[in-house]
Amino acid sequence: GRSQRLVGRHVLVTAGPTHEPIDPVRYIANRSSGKQGFAIAAAAARAGARVTLVAGPVNLPTPRGVDRIDVESAREMAAAVKGALPADVAIMVAAVADWRTSTVAEEKMKKRGSAPPALLLTENPDILASVAASAQRPPLLVGFAAETQDVILHAQEKRLRKQVDWIVANDVSGDVMGGDANAVHIIRADDVVSLPEMPKEDVARILVERIADALA
Ligand code: C5P
Repeated sequence: GRSQRLVGRHVLVTAGPTHEPIDPVRYIANRSSGKQGFAIAAAAARAGARVTLVAGPVNLPTPRGVDRIDVESAREMAAAVKGALPADVAIMVAAVADWRTSTVAEEKMKKRGSAPPALLLTENPDILASVAASAQRPPLLVGFAAETQDVILHAQEKRLRKQVDWIVANDVSGDVMGGDANAVHIIRADDVVSLPEMPKEDVARILVERIADALA
């Protein structure tokens, strides 16, 4: 029936932030609750897909019927994603940290008696771009983009630059981060589908319907 449109499909989702350790007690992270990615994984599972959810550190329960792989850092996320391919569709919702420190201190860095440390940063792998370039590129590859201005324009540029099929752009200038509602634009090669603000579960359900349409 119409509710089981992804039976036989493998859907890969990344969600949440990554944590890049500085020392045993400190890390660099992006602001991300993981709610939107988890809602997408849940909606795909409800549509009958086999779902692999690669999750950064979040405080969220595993949606029913979803295979969850927990990771901490971007490099761990990249390895888990690679190991989860092939997939019919990959939806990369994670807010991956762009940088990590070049080295991780083995002991907690001490404040007393020393100047503030200078953190030397190095670039993390771009997981989405490497999936796009991979021999196992899913037939439908969806990226997310959090923008604060010129949302559609920047997202259209990102779609081309990252060589993905769709970019789901959200305006994060408001209080979307950690909230329960989201307003997104689904940027595709030939059109833009703009959705009004709605609960993240509804965004997920509509996105999964569009994905089912595209795979059909
Ligand atoms: O360029 P930007 O980081 O804004 O791109 C966002 C998109 O790229 C998201 O889909 C995000 O999950 C993905 N991404 C990634 N690995 C990175 C950085 C971003 O997969 N290192």
